[in-house]
Amino acid sequence: MAGMKHGTVCGLDIGTTKTCAVVAVEGPTGLEVVGIGEAPSLGMRKGVVVDLDETIKSIEAATEQAERMAGMRVQDVYIGITGDHIRCTNNRAVVATANETREVGEVDVRRVVDASKLINLSADRQIIHALPRYFTVDGQEGVADPVGMAGGRLEVDTHIVTGGQTFITNVLKCVHRAGLEAAGVVFEPLASSASTLMPEERQVGAVLLDIGGGTTDIAVHSLGSAIYSATIPIGGCILTSDVALGLRTSHDRAEEIKRRFGAAVRDSDGEETFAVETLDGRTTRQHSTAELRAIVVPRVLETLRMARQKIVENVPRDLVLGEVVLTGGGSLLPGIAEVAEDVFGLPVRIGVPKHVVGLTQTVAQPQYATAIGLILFGANGNGALIETSRRSGSLWQRLAKFTSDLWN
Ligand SMILES: Nc1ncnc2c1ncn2[C@@H]1O[C@H](COP(=O)(O)OP(=O)(O)OP(=O)(O)O)[C@@H](O)[C@H]1O
Ligand SMILES: [Mg+2]
Repeated sequence: MAGMKHGTVCGLDIGTTKTCAVVAVEGPTGLEVVGIGEAPSLGMRKGVVVDLDETIKSIEAATEQAERMAGMRVQDVYIGITGDHIRCTNNRAVVATANETREVGEVDVRRVVDASKLINLSADRQIIHALPRYFTVDGQEGVADPVGMAGGRLEVDTHIVTGGQTFITNVLKCVHRAGLEAAGVVFEPLASSASTLMPEERQVGAVLLDIGGGTTDIAVHSLGSAIYSATIPIGGCILTSDVALGLRTSHDRAEEIKRRFGAAVRDSDGEETFAVETLDGRTTRQHSTAELRAIVVPRVLETLRMARQKIVENVPRDLVLGEVVLTGGGSLLPGIAEVAEDVFGLPVRIGVPKHVVGLTQTVAQPQYATAIGLILFGANGNGALIETSRRSGSLWQRLAKFTSDLWN
């Protein structure tokens, strides 16, 4: 497998609420998860680093835990990236095949994908992904793998994701200071898509929403690949703040109440009441799940509508979408799938990480979608950014140069 050193691959999801490290090895039946570690993340806000030391601490804690479970040290990690600074665009490029036999070679594929990276990019931005959506060989559209095909003209349509250099560098800095090396960076909803979506869903057309603590990340897939990706700076943390404000209680208690009693639909077994401590902790008040729902539902609706609006504005009108898949910790809110069904007018399911073996009980939870997706991305060499951009000398050389000044 490309992207794997000694058959081991590691993912590091530095989220707004938790950092998750995963270690997997190439096994006879597929990628086998052998270690997973999780630690609270206090240095991130809405996907970006706001406190280096806290972030480093949380990376170290999560990695150590995963290493202990796996019984091995990790070095190279695939890292999730998200935040308001991420942008995407689709581009198209064309090259003449170099080969005299007029056959498409791997070299041509690399050249054409590299050519598609020539986009208007300000100096403070970097290309994170240039993912081939499909190739066109001598006018024949929709070719998934053109290598070996006869043809003189090779075109590619790519999905390009860019990010702010400083934001990426700050994440890489923390990773480096925690004693790890970056094997690659992956935009988080693309990682979550890799672990939760089935190939048929990507083919038919599906929306992936990763509802985290600080951000809700979007990836729209059609004909087998990503066509649009974005992020919204709203997630479960705002919901918790709403509950804290609405019930006038502490943040921690609000989080507890949200997880225990929070729901986006009416409970058919009847309403419940629960005691809430006032902020000074001296008295308690009774509140009902109906009150809680009145706080939670508007924010959930707002978030889902924002996601829908972004998609409506940015994907072609005639694009067929068959389904919405919700993942991330925010998707654990009971009833959120029903609300999403109303907003999108599409069937909705909750996505948990699949496509790996080992520790399946632990792994099959929506909050691990990104971390598991990172190892899948890494193992498949889908994190094409490493392969192609090292050769083209763009992202990684520039990044390495840029960051080495800071790291040394
Ligand atoms: N049972 C639950 N009901 C409602 N919300 C929940 C539940 N369990 C967890 N959450 C929420 O999920 C969020 C954390 O999700 P997740 O672990 O995917 O985020 P993250 O990866 O740390 O953040 P981000 O992806 O935004 O950087 C928190 O806001 C938490 O309150
Ligand atoms: Mg996340």
